[in-house]
Amino acid sequence: MLDQFAGGGTTLVEAKLLNRDIIGVDVNDAALTRCREKIAFEHDGADGKVYIRKGDARNLDFLPDSSIDLICTHPPYADIIKYSEDIEADLSRLKVKDFLEAMKPVSSECYRVLKKGRFCAILMGDTRKNGCMVPISFEVMRIFQDAGFTLKELIIKEQHNCRATGYWKTNSVKYNFLLIAHEYLFVFRK
Ligand SMILES: C[S@@+](CC[C@H](N)C(=O)[O-])C[C@H]1O[C@@H](n2cnc3c(N)ncnc32)[C@H](O)[C@@H]1O
Repeated sequence: MLDQFAGGGTTLVEAKLLNRDIIGVDVNDAALTRCREKIAFEHDGADGKVYIRKGDARNLDFLPDSSIDLICTHPPYADIIKYSEDIEADLSRLKVKDFLEAMKPVSSECYRVLKKGRFCAILMGDTRKNGCMVPISFEVMRIFQDAGFTLKELIIKEQHNCRATGYWKTNSVKYNFLLIAHEYLFVFRK
């Protein structure tokens, strides 16, 4: 398994619990330290091996072609949440247009390292700018399709940590429709 935007290490922990071996990559040393702390636990039956390394999701040249069974990852949503101030390769420092350009090599590296017929799950959210919706997730979906992936599933995940969730949730229930208080989990197949 691979998570090339490992962040706080949630996917690494879950992989270990599920007995899956996983490679976690992040560009930020603070994230890597957090990952190492999080995976340092013992639990009955949790025998997945976790390999952590510093790197850039746009260039995974340490991995051979068609070597990964499953990709499960969660990139930044452009600069909506900035994960660092001065790490040049950190995609969370990029405005939407540049972020989408940067996601092209990310998608082609995903396609290259994944085995044929296997799945690549990407969690992405949207934003608003000047009162208008900016559907970053659908742009990213198209980029992954252009890289060669087919879209197997589109799963909607409720967003719990967003400031507007309470407001949108109340009104969604009241009026019986959904506005952005959710993210998309795109499940692509190579
Ligand atoms: C949304 S967070 C991941 C959160 C993670 N799923 C968790 O549960 O904690 C995105 C991560 O991508 C990392 N990142 C940004 N640009 C990167 C790049 N070019 N290559 C690898 N990691 C990058 C950031 O440092 C941040 O830790």
